[in-house]
Amino acid sequence: MKGVDLQLYDGEVVAIVGPNGAGKTTLLRTISGLVTVHAGEIRFEGERITRTPAHRIARRGIGHCPEGRRIFQRLTVEENLVTGFIPRRGRSYADLRAQAFALFPILAERRASYASRLSGGQQQMLAVARSLMAEPRLLMLDEPSLGLAPLVVNQILEIVLKLAESGVSIMLVEQKVNFALEICDYAYVLENGYCTMAGPGAKLLADPLLREAYLPKV
Ligand SMILES: Nc1ncnc2c1ncn2[C@@H]1O[C@H](COP(=O)(O)OP(=O)(O)OP(=O)(O)O)[C@@H](O)[C@H]1O
Ligand SMILES: [Mg+2]
Repeated sequence: MKGVDLQLYDGEVVAIVGPNGAGKTTLLRTISGLVTVHAGEIRFEGERITRTPAHRIARRGIGHCPEGRRIFQRLTVEENLVTGFIPRRGRSYADLRAQAFALFPILAERRASYASRLSGGQQQMLAVARSLMAEPRLLMLDEPSLGLAPLVVNQILEIVLKLAESGVSIMLVEQKVNFALEICDYAYVLENGYCTMAGPGAKLLADPLLREAYLPKV
């Protein structure tokens, strides 16, 4: 990846869109400390995290909800939440779990079920809920809508927008370009590892070049 320069503010929703293989997942993995940075700099809340190890980046407050959900299929809902717990600001596990269950009541109902028994939508909810167990200040979501019915996607994104309202910054990688541009404050288009377009969501939605490349003709 080269020439990718992006920033985001508290409570802002930034969308990253672009074709398969553009480098969207690589970008998130780089911010998380899972991919080595060869040149350039990443700053979070004023501090350099360019070469900070992944576990410390998570502790600093960056949550990563990876592509393909990656929850533990053979653990229960509750056990999955335990795996995401990082006591960052003195909040207890019980407190954070209560918050997760309040956002996703269905997970409370199914707390003792194995993750493998959940529907796709419930698994995605669990993946988001697990990320929240570390109280992130920035939550990165990699294609949360993949394989889910529109109704469930809306349900999950409503909660994500609620989080943004509470001040959590959101970085959303989405293949549903239309949808991502509608809900974000600002968006970046990645192609072949380069950032080729950027701007407020509404502005990109109206851009003929972007429409031609990414939106279905009507
Ligand atoms: N660990 C790796 N080593 C070498 N190449 C990789 C590695 N991970 C990804 N790539 C390559 O880097 C490019 C970007 O991949 P990436 O997964 O970031 O794209 P993406 O935008 O997330 O795509 P998708 O929409 O399919 O999820 C691809 O060409 C991919 O094959
Ligand atoms: Mg990807």
